[in-house]
Amino acid sequence: MGNWKMNKDLSSAVSYVEEFFKLARDTGGKIDIVLFPPFPLIHPVVEAIRGGARWTDLFAVGAQDMHFAEKGAYTGAVSGICIKSVGATHVIIGHSERRTLFGDDNKTVGAKLKSALEMGLVPVLCVGEPLDIRDAGREEEYVIRQLKSAFDKIETRSLRSFTFAYEPIWAIGTGRNATRDEIEPMHNLIRKWASKVGFQGGGDSVRILYGGSVNPDNARELYDIDGVDGFLVGGASLEAYSFAAILDAMIGKE
Ligand code: PGA
Repeated sequence: MGNWKMNKDLSSAVSYVEEFFKLARDTGGKIDIVLFPPFPLIHPVVEAIRGGARWTDLFAVGAQDMHFAEKGAYTGAVSGICIKSVGATHVIIGHSERRTLFGDDNKTVGAKLKSALEMGLVPVLCVGEPLDIRDAGREEEYVIRQLKSAFDKIETRSLRSFTFAYEPIWAIGTGRNATRDEIEPMHNLIRKWASKVGFQGGGDSVRILYGGSVNPDNARELYDIDGVDGFLVGGASLEAYSFAAILDAMIGKE
């Protein structure tokens, strides 16, 4: 999944999709591809994908965030209803940049997650610890607290095929990806927690993406780690050729 963050304009977004279709190999139905453009570019990207007519069912578009309310006096905010109406099917909830730069606390993240599920959007819930917490050896309790509060008001037994993204904050945009020894235990922890709280199908039914400095050179090794089901890619998703190269690395392993 490619998170464009606050990058691109209309023409570069549309030409990206055209270029990606030329470069990307067929995934054989095994890998879902989702692009997360800035809000105003969601609809043009949806249209460009539909016009491209290649695996439109596997290539989806999502929003990088949403407000928890359906509508109302929230100047500058965008509701799930609105993003759905322009063709988004997915939404990132609780990205660390929303948490640290825009003040989304655990309670807000929980409200957004609940709203996304009620609206029938596919949420990608991001969790991950800052460096001081990792250095203090408290990353597991930190992530568990994020998970518990995100699902505080949600009936987990009704959920199936939920998607998490583990993104250690110190690995995002830094060029320093987490290692196998750091990723594997955390993915196990999240999966066990999902199983314990009763997601339908247990821990095996959830998908856990890794995010943090994923690029074409490290994608294959990272995808090889037990429990890594895919990636949430920031910087390396901004160019169609490098996003396609990451996909290539994943297809090689499937
Ligand atoms: P990055 O960003 O790949 O640039 O580290 C990942 C993310 O923020 O989702």
